[in-house]
Amino acid sequence: MSAEDAAALISNGTTVGMSGFTGSGYPKAVPLALAARIEAEHAAGNPFRVSVWTGASTGPELDGALAKADGIEFRLPYNSDPIARDKINRGEMNYFDMHLSHVSPMAWQGFLGPLDTALVEVTGITEDGDLIPSSSVGNNKVWLDRATRIILEVNRWQNPLLEGMHDIYYGTRLPPDRVPIPLVRADQRIGQPLFRCDPDRIAAIVETDVPDRNLPFSAPDESAMRIAGHLLEFLEHEVKVGRMPADLLPIQSGVGNIANAVLTGLVDSRFENLTAYTEVIQDGMLDLIDAGKLRVASATSFSLSPEAAARVNADMGRYRDRMILRPQEISNHPELIRRLGCVAMNGLIEADIYGNVNSTHVMGSRIQNGIGGSGDFARNAYVSIFMTPSTAKGGSISAIVPFASHVDHISQDVQVIVTEQGLADLRGLAPKQRAALIIEKCAHPVYKPMLQDYVRRANEQAYGKHTPTLLNEALSWHQRYVETGSMLPK
Ligand code: COA
Repeated sequence: MSAEDAAALISNGTTVGMSGFTGSGYPKAVPLALAARIEAEHAAGNPFRVSVWTGASTGPELDGALAKADGIEFRLPYNSDPIARDKINRGEMNYFDMHLSHVSPMAWQGFLGPLDTALVEVTGITEDGDLIPSSSVGNNKVWLDRATRIILEVNRWQNPLLEGMHDIYYGTRLPPDRVPIPLVRADQRIGQPLFRCDPDRIAAIVETDVPDRNLPFSAPDESAMRIAGHLLEFLEHEVKVGRMPADLLPIQSGVGNIANAVLTGLVDSRFENLTAYTEVIQDGMLDLIDAGKLRVASATSFSLSPEAAARVNADMGRYRDRMILRPQEISNHPELIRRLGCVAMNGLIEADIYGNVNSTHVMGSRIQNGIGGSGDFARNAYVSIFMTPSTAKGGSISAIVPFASHVDHISQDVQVIVTEQGLADLRGLAPKQRAALIIEKCAHPVYKPMLQDYVRRANEQAYGKHTPTLLNEALSWHQRYVETGSMLPK
């Protein structure tokens, strides 16, 4: 069927569960045709908006086109598209930013309402009617199982050798019938390579030949390399004192430039035989595989620059043996992250002196992307590490603040904070000890005296001395930035 005819099957006010995770494996033709249809309906004075659920972020043909057409009423669970971000921050689009491991169970539990259409990109359809997954798995299994109607995009650009890379586990249940998930190693397969699909619910099949569109990573700068250096020193120390084996524990690396830079740093380290139990496979993971340092990477999606995607496609046969793509309910499952003992490394927007971390909201109210899987990993990891440059926006913002303007990760879920200035190991420390260490090791020299002054006065004047906080001053740095464009006093 043509993309236009398939898009005509989607009605105003309905919910569409789409494939897609960090620019990989999202449908590329039907969302564009739907956006054109929505624009035509709006031009004719008719309302037309849909709710869009995905695995995580997608590409410009999906979030970008639908947001531009003002066609998204409600979006979950993660977005990084700039047009959609603008709409959300202008209050014109409802967005439910949620833990990625929660999406599938919540959809099954019926908490999110009915799902009308599954719109899923696949690599192929077998003679038996099973579906060969694409370059991301995300929530596709649950969309295919739950939706009233299914639209498939078969993308010929995806490498046929992807077949066999996936591990689709069908053993998850709802309470009270849940059983343990039988995965005890990152390299283990517990499911099947293909999606099951009820052919009676397939309403359309659209053929495409369009590349995934991930953004390039910026080359690691001096600051990112220093962060990577501190982190490697920490990991080496953990091995030396016997808290981690020589080949470490399965690493999880978050999204973004800093996370990718740290992986690049691992290439030149003396760690070998590594494994990754993570959410996305970025360029840095490929480098680790190519360097013979990473034995296996388990994830739910690729998050590769265009050059790295071409590299994987050209050599899929070799990479396929080193990679496993799973549903995100498994890649991000708290039970499995806790059992495997992942070393979680995620980026942040800001951390406060007590170690509460804001991963999502600039100045407490403007969303950047979303929590993604960072909460799934941070709470359940063997050790939970957050990293950031110590300042943002040319030094006008301190990433270490008296009080976080929004909290995604409470201090209990944050064990190590790293900036280019240094690394604070917060394990076993009380709030006042944490504050002293975070300021000493992580704050930028320009902001350090301001933080020390705040802490000194908070220790004298605060209502309680366990987590001393000056209520009328704690968010004043943010207010100053909003008013003057800098957290620094004039
Ligand atoms: N105040 C204002 N803006 C800030 C900021 C702060 N304290 N810290 C970062 N930013 C801005 C940067 O300026 C940049 O903006 P720009 O694109 O306009 O230049 C943007 O946020 C990205 O920051 P960058 O320094 O390039 O870091 P990054 O690419 O490593 O991303 C996060 C950092 C926090 C945005 C990213 O890690 C994220 O979205 N995390 C949440 C989801 C997550 O952790 N997923 C992983 C789970 S597996």
